[in-house]
Amino acid sequence: LLRDNIRRTLQESIYRYAPLLPIRDSNNVVTLGEGGTPLVPMTSLGQLIGTPRLLGKDETRNPTQSFKDRPISVGISVLRELCATDVACISAGGNTASSVAAYCARAQIKAHLYLPSWTPRAKLLHALALGAEVKRIEGADNLSSFNFGMSEMRRKGFLPLMTRPKINPFPLEGCKTIAYELVEQLKGDAPDWVVIAVGTGTNLAGVWKGFKELHDCGLAEQLPRLLATQSNTCMPLVDAFERGLDAEEIVPWPDAHTIASGLNDAYPDACVTALQALKDSHGKAISVTDQGILEAVLLLARQEGLFAEPAGAASIAGLIEAIREGIIKKDDRVVCLITGSGLKQPDALTDFIKVPKPIRGASRNNSPTFHD
Ligand SMILES: Cc1ncc(COP(=O)(O)O)c(C=O)c1O
Repeated sequence: LLRDNIRRTLQESIYRYAPLLPIRDSNNVVTLGEGGTPLVPMTSLGQLIGTPRLLGKDETRNPTQSFKDRPISVGISVLRELCATDVACISAGGNTASSVAAYCARAQIKAHLYLPSWTPRAKLLHALALGAEVKRIEGADNLSSFNFGMSEMRRKGFLPLMTRPKINPFPLEGCKTIAYELVEQLKGDAPDWVVIAVGTGTNLAGVWKGFKELHDCGLAEQLPRLLATQSNTCMPLVDAFERGLDAEEIVPWPDAHTIASGLNDAYPDACVTALQALKDSHGKAISVTDQGILEAVLLLARQEGLFAEPAGAASIAGLIEAIREGIIKKDDRVVCLITGSGLKQPDALTDFIKVPKPIRGASRNNSPTFHD
């Protein structure tokens, strides 16, 4: 029944899986055509690093260039069912913010965004161009903007639209469509490993939920193992996993400051579920350096032509480390989630890329040969 339902929904968006999503009335769906992203073979990069069967799920192709469009489309659609007029989003890395701004514009609902002052400029401009009201809050980590945003949201009666399951559980349901698509793209199979970079842990928790649901329904034969990756400058989940802690023992990460803005979350909301997902999938968690993440951005760009922001390429950095540690083997089929576009945070590469100086007087010198 489910398989037929999915087949009948011939939409090229996550609403292809409408029977499995929490929106009652399809008239309330707010979509920009999110999802349906390609699963690209990355043979050249795979051969170079030692996993020739490497695939990348290219989430940069989403309408606002990150995977966040999946959870935010689901979240805003549920809020439209509740007749929301104003929504609040406390974002840090900024991809949720630009996604919320876009879907709110689409739904003609007012978006109020609360961002720390370090949110990358491209994402800030993106959200402002989309008409969101933005408040920027000073503070090195995301706690100040979180507290400010929460108190204003409560005072003004805005409804929350963000990928923090403790505050709004619905967006996580959008993340699970990544797993549905992977199972479809691999014709019912699952890869050996799915590598996911972790901030709040919502995406990892959602992807695991998706695999489990399809498996429980008999639509996926196997389950993959999950590999979580965080920067060693903000690694509450990896730390908890390595030390064998229980979920309630996870503590905020002191002095979080990774260049991978989407992963710079010292207060990981969904890590309880994410930690459980890692255990259930017989997975692993691994930390990488910021230097390793930036090198992964360039490797991915130069071997595969795919430009990701640091958080978007952190899965590649995690994979390289996992191969080095012997966790992932040469014959494993691996999917890395490439979660966000490099155009959302190009300044991260300033120290890595030399911009050539303009050649002086070139136009004057060259003009005679041009007319020859
Ligand atoms: C590009 C990118 N990748 C990964 C993540 C981490 O996702 P999550 O917070 O669901 O763990 C984020 C979060 O903002 C992100 O923007």
